[in-house]
Amino acid sequence: MGDFERQYTRVDRVRAVLDKMIKEMDDQERQRNAYVHLYGTGQACALIAFKRGHDGIYAELACIAGMLHDITKFELGPDTPEHAKTGALRAWKLLASTDEFTEEELTMICTGIANHSHKERTDDEFSEIIKDGDAMQHWLRNPAEAYFSEKSRNVLLREEFGLFKE
Ligand SMILES: [Fe+2]
Repeated sequence: MGDFERQYTRVDRVRAVLDKMIKEMDDQERQRNAYVHLYGTGQACALIAFKRGHDGIYAELACIAGMLHDITKFELGPDTPEHAKTGALRAWKLLASTDEFTEEELTMICTGIANHSHKERTDDEFSEIIKDGDAMQHWLRNPAEAYFSEKSRNVLLREEFGLFKE
């Protein structure tokens, strides 16, 4: 295989389903936010997974969890109650339908999604990557903003990545 040959992976297959869902939204602003936040969080989760010493398969799972973490919030609206829990169930169905994930992988991803709203506590390592990826995307979308959600997590992330200190 040449260096630049495009390889289709599980991220691509999840992206196809997610893109279809986003394209069907009738609110353009919600669509824009969905693209930026879901894919941005997916990329941040992959980066954090690599930084914490994990391999590409693990980072792929983290990326997919990031891509899906707010799925019901975007699909059903920002006031969706318990969007982390409903999102985990929605993600499970979506991912199981692809037949490309083991039960263990589905559990990891969906546990991460279910836990992501609890930024105040520390859960398993994978769940913490999803929370941090979510927080990092909020920060990177507008780096000079002084007040944004989950600032305390971003202070720790900046330290971990050797970035500036305030
Ligand atoms: Fe989020």
